[in-house]
Amino acid sequence: MKVLVVDDSRNDRKPIRFNFEWHGCQVLEASNGRQGLEIAASEKPDLIVSDCLMPIMDGFQFLHEIKKLTELRSIPFVFYSAVYTGSKEAELAFSLGASAFLEKPKSPDELWEEVGRVLAFEPVAEPPMQARGWPEQEFLKNYSQLVAGKLEEKVRELSDVNESLLRLNGELEQRVLDRTTQLEAANEELEMFSYSVSHDMRAPLRHIDGFSQVLAEEYAGNLNFTGREYLERIRKSSRRMLEMIDAILELSRCARGNLVKESVELSSLAREVAVELADAQPERKVAFNIVEGLTVRGDARLLRVVMENLISNAWKMTAQREDALIEFYDTRWDGSVAFAVRDNGVGFDAAYADKLFAPFQRVHSQEEYPGRGIGLAIVRRIINRHGGKIRAESEPGRGATFTFVL
Ligand SMILES: Nc1ncnc2c1ncn2[C@@H]1O[C@H](COP(=O)(O)OP(=O)(O)OP(=O)(O)O)[C@@H](O)[C@H]1O
Ligand SMILES: [Mg+2]
Repeated sequence: MKVLVVDDSRNDRKPIRFNFEWHGCQVLEASNGRQGLEIAASEKPDLIVSDCLMPIMDGFQFLHEIKKLTELRSIPFVFYSAVYTGSKEAELAFSLGASAFLEKPKSPDELWEEVGRVLAFEPVAEPPMQARGWPEQEFLKNYSQLVAGKLEEKVRELSDVNESLLRLNGELEQRVLDRTTQLEAANEELEMFSYSVSHDMRAPLRHIDGFSQVLAEEYAGNLNFTGREYLERIRKSSRRMLEMIDAILELSRCARGNLVKESVELSSLAREVAVELADAQPERKVAFNIVEGLTVRGDARLLRVVMENLISNAWKMTAQREDALIEFYDTRWDGSVAFAVRDNGVGFDAAYADKLFAPFQRVHSQEEYPGRGIGLAIVRRIINRHGGKIRAESEPGRGATFTFVL
């Protein structure tokens, strides 16, 4: 038996081919109705198995054309489809003269049995008038009704899917919004907590500092040398702790309040900071190389704090150099515009690069390079609040570069 399999999907044709070949049939393949028609005309198969939905010429048109041709109209025509499986489609298929309308997928045995049934019942005599092909107009009317119906169905399905997607999207947005609000509230609460704890700790510490000062000044005579030394240590520690608390409060302050974004010229901020530093220590000789006109959008007050900290660190860390040089310039980082402050000072071991941004992390000795260790933590927090990032690069003795994106 010669079987013509017409399907636009190669993967769908394959199992049908194997199935029929396994039963000793000769199988011909076509990928649409037009090609099927040509092969049917030249090869005269004993059976046609066709898909419905195909490009160029679909299964219904293919069947309609077959039934128009005297020499082909008696070939049994089996529809085998996964898309057109409604009763309307089957009705049109049978009224056009199809022998069967099978739903994909079927197991090889099922398909073979169904085809066997079709062939067994197929009238050998001349097919009924209806199956000899419809008048063109009649076919087109029914066919376009079917296609329009199918389209309507698809449009309905699509708009249903669209609607549920829109709903899901809305729900998702709402959930993100809820989560963000929760997170912001939690963050604010934490911030408030650390602020008030730090704030409230100042009062008892001031008492310790104040009373130990009185003790040192008015009762020093009652203490021996060791006692006075202990007292001095207590005072030093309480002062250090007060400094730390002030630093935490400062860090806390830069995380509070709304960002007021405007156009900010970083270059002029850099120049202002340079002038202030030079005025405060006129004995130092430091060269500045500041690229002009570098402007960003951000909070002017906070960005000034960033520039102050980065440039004053560079100023401090170049103290030992005769030819100190501090630069501010633009660069790139991951494809974005970035800015950098570079100096030729003492630098630091690259292993500490990330630690420096945590509060109270310092690499150099307090005696040589004094500081509270809060500057870079403040810088990072401000940059994070702007949605940016910062990194530090250095080698001992070879200066340091702080690069940031806003
Ligand atoms: N340009 C630099 N070159 C080398 N080391 C640096 C540089 N900038 C920062 N560091 C190192 O990072 C540490 C932390 O810097 P950070 O600005 O946070 O604190 P600080 O300068 O010590 O104190 P302050 O809170 O007064 O700024 C510094 O103590 C120093 O060891
Ligand atoms: Mg600093």
